[in-house]
Amino acid sequence: MRNLPNLRVQLAPRHPKGLILSNPVMIAAGIAGYCGEYAEIADIQKLGAIVCKGTTLMPKEGNAQPRLVETASGLLNSVGLENIGVDALIGEKAPVWARWRVPVIVNVAGETIDEYVAVTSKLEGVPGISGIELNISCPNVSAGGIEFGVDPKLAARVTSAVRAASTLPVIVKLSPNVTDIREIALAVEEAGADAISLINTLRGMAIDIDQRKPCLGDSAGGLSGPAIKPVALYMVFETARVVHIPVIGCGGIACAEDALEFIMAGATAVQIGTASLTNPQLGLNVLEGIENFMRQNGVQNLAELIGIALA
Ligand SMILES: Cc1cc2nc3c(=O)[nH]c(=O)nc-3n(C[C@H](O)[C@H](O)[C@H](O)COP(=O)(O)O)c2cc1C
Repeated sequence: MRNLPNLRVQLAPRHPKGLILSNPVMIAAGIAGYCGEYAEIADIQKLGAIVCKGTTLMPKEGNAQPRLVETASGLLNSVGLENIGVDALIGEKAPVWARWRVPVIVNVAGETIDEYVAVTSKLEGVPGISGIELNISCPNVSAGGIEFGVDPKLAARVTSAVRAASTLPVIVKLSPNVTDIREIALAVEEAGADAISLINTLRGMAIDIDQRKPCLGDSAGGLSGPAIKPVALYMVFETARVVHIPVIGCGGIACAEDALEFIMAGATAVQIGTASLTNPQLGLNVLEGIENFMRQNGVQNLAELIGIALA
């Protein structure tokens, strides 16, 4: 009898403690807040990891409504990092996560390097938190966020400052709104990132022709969903060719086949976002689909597939 396929992945091989996931399927930041309610409708404990909503030093109200609009095969959002702030996260959410089997990674956002460092420092030693995902790629805030993600020097500065302030594995989440993703990826790798996740949303907008004004309260927003998959896949492929740390693929994944494309393009793990809004069981479906593919194709270890299309 053959052994069960091995889906375990190491997300932070350079980190002293590492970050091993039981499988490569993660929930992307911002899709299910802090995942408390999500845990009631889907067995998310079976997933590889969960990333929570972008978290800032102080609570944030976010942008004007409307904040969501559907587009062809996609979603535009301008939530603007509405969140409860790091203190409430530590007091209310982390104690719940500490009882979970699935590792939770906190998506950290800020307007200045000091704010990123302050949030990260507060998370140090808090039970229930397995890693940091540094959001230097949010297109929906007036200050910070994406500014750090489009300039290699700034991206490196914020990464090394957070790296120095934390003993947790640090994943840096990149923006697709750049000319050359490789430049930013190499800069954050050099600055001490344990892994890179990509992509965050692509800048976009929609106009209501009857109202004669933008559909979103904040005019522009970030495009996500199946519409962005080919762009995300290409960026993962380009990044995985040049870095020597794990790459986490994200953008438009809606089925196991999509996830396998990202894995073959060099992703060690994948994050599921928008498509799970219409099917909360999607992460579990993707996990099952990857496992079935491995069985049907005689693949014993997921590592055999990671980057196989990178030639
Ligand atoms: C409503 C919404 C909120 C999001 N909030 C965050 C966030 O707080 N932090 C972050 O890094 N990314 C955030 N994202 C981006 C997603 O994590 C993901 O990178 C992006 O949507 C692409 O993946 P998808 O096409 O599978 O959704 C958000 C996306 C959406 C749709």
